[in-house]
Amino acid sequence: MSKKDTVTLIDNSTGKEIELPILHPTNGISTIDVRQLYRKLGYFTYDPGFLSTASCHSSITYLDGLNGELQYGGYPIEQLADHSNFLEVCYLLLEGELPTKEEFAEFKTIITEHTMLHEALKRFYSGFRRDAHPMAIMVGVVGALSAFYHDEIDIHDPKHRMIAAHQLIAKMPTIAAWSYRYSHGLPFEYPRNHLDYASNFLHMMFSLPTVAYVPDPVFVKALDLIFILHADHEQNASTSTVRLTGSSEANPFAAISAGIASLWGPAHGGANEAVIRMLTDIVESDNDVEYYIERAKNKDDRFRLMGFGHRIYKNYDPRARIIRKTCHELLTGLGSSNEYSDLFKAAMELEQIALEDEYFISRNLYPNVDFYSGIILLAMGVPLNMFTVIFAVARTVGWVSHWDEMIQDPESRIGRPRQLYVGALPRDYPKDSD
Ligand code: CMC
Repeated sequence: MSKKDTVTLIDNSTGKEIELPILHPTNGISTIDVRQLYRKLGYFTYDPGFLSTASCHSSITYLDGLNGELQYGGYPIEQLADHSNFLEVCYLLLEGELPTKEEFAEFKTIITEHTMLHEALKRFYSGFRRDAHPMAIMVGVVGALSAFYHDEIDIHDPKHRMIAAHQLIAKMPTIAAWSYRYSHGLPFEYPRNHLDYASNFLHMMFSLPTVAYVPDPVFVKALDLIFILHADHEQNASTSTVRLTGSSEANPFAAISAGIASLWGPAHGGANEAVIRMLTDIVESDNDVEYYIERAKNKDDRFRLMGFGHRIYKNYDPRARIIRKTCHELLTGLGSSNEYSDLFKAAMELEQIALEDEYFISRNLYPNVDFYSGIILLAMGVPLNMFTVIFAVARTVGWVSHWDEMIQDPESRIGRPRQLYVGALPRDYPKDSD
């Protein structure tokens, strides 16, 4: 390690100093290795929200927030969106390489053959209230998979880990569609092996025992695109949750269930649902779009424009750029005579104003992927409370890929952050006064 591959940290209070190694990535920002800091200088680092902290090595996804770049396994998301399909992307994320024709055929067969659920799992659904949010059902049912597969899994055996990954990718659409069916009092539809991944999901969502649902190819393509764009996003909140949960060697189904819980929040995967709720409020209120823009800019008001801004993409969200086109095409195709046309009009107006407004421009607050995916899902007839569920279906492959990578990494340890304690100093429990 040469001197220029280190940074020197001097403690001005003691005069002690330490050289910290700089670790270089294959692409992106170098990282200071602070592991020796506590042992040598007796300090922790403070970084709430991990704004400057890398928690692991990873070779799955690369993103550059300033330049708006996203790559899976080195392949730009724009090229994958144009030329690949979701199942091929799943293979890429899990294996690190695109499959050959034979490998893809075999992978597709494996996923197709694992789509059914254990019949006993059906009974878990009836334990939920009818009006349960499908994400609550997802957290419960995916967590319950651990009870079905726990003893079979040796997480230190790569083959076992891959089987768990395949089971999750295959079963997630069934679990997700059934959460919708249950909350709507509809009978469960079993998966159909001749259908592709997106069509099968739409079939399980919308087919009736009396009428088979024939999905519109435009919807199938749009859903596959949404799956591709949401498949992974490196160390986001839910993926970090899965890694942290899995770092204690917990069952992978339980770890993925924790990831689903994290994704549910409106600042993460719940944003596409929040976008539609906000647009509905705008349409139903007597106020125009400008009024909401002003509210978003007002620091005394907690209101934020849902679907705008991103923790990492401070220039633009490349996924939003891809999906925006599909969204605009779909809305143009639907015309102005559909039941949501007022809502779509408000969305386009909001997009236009925000893109031109100094407040949003100066803070790099562009519409993110959830702004457009929410509108597309609504146009497809997907109920609002299923939006985040669809995100969870897509992100499952990212979660299991990171879990697998973490278990393989010889440097990975149980996740255990430190804290800056600001509570009471030691004191005595009060004695009874007489
Ligand atoms: N509307 C109005 N102002 C905003 C918004 C917004 N949506 N987002 C950020 N700001 C302002 C914020 O008030 C702050 O202003 P100032 O500098 O004057 O104090 C500035 O922009 C920077 O915001 P921040 O809170 O420091 O940014 P962050 O990186 O901590 O938050 C975010 C990122 C995504 C949580 C936030 O932009 C937000 O709440 N957006 C709305 C929710 C949303 O769409 N979330 C989906 C994210 S994409 C899906 C995913 O990958 O999970």
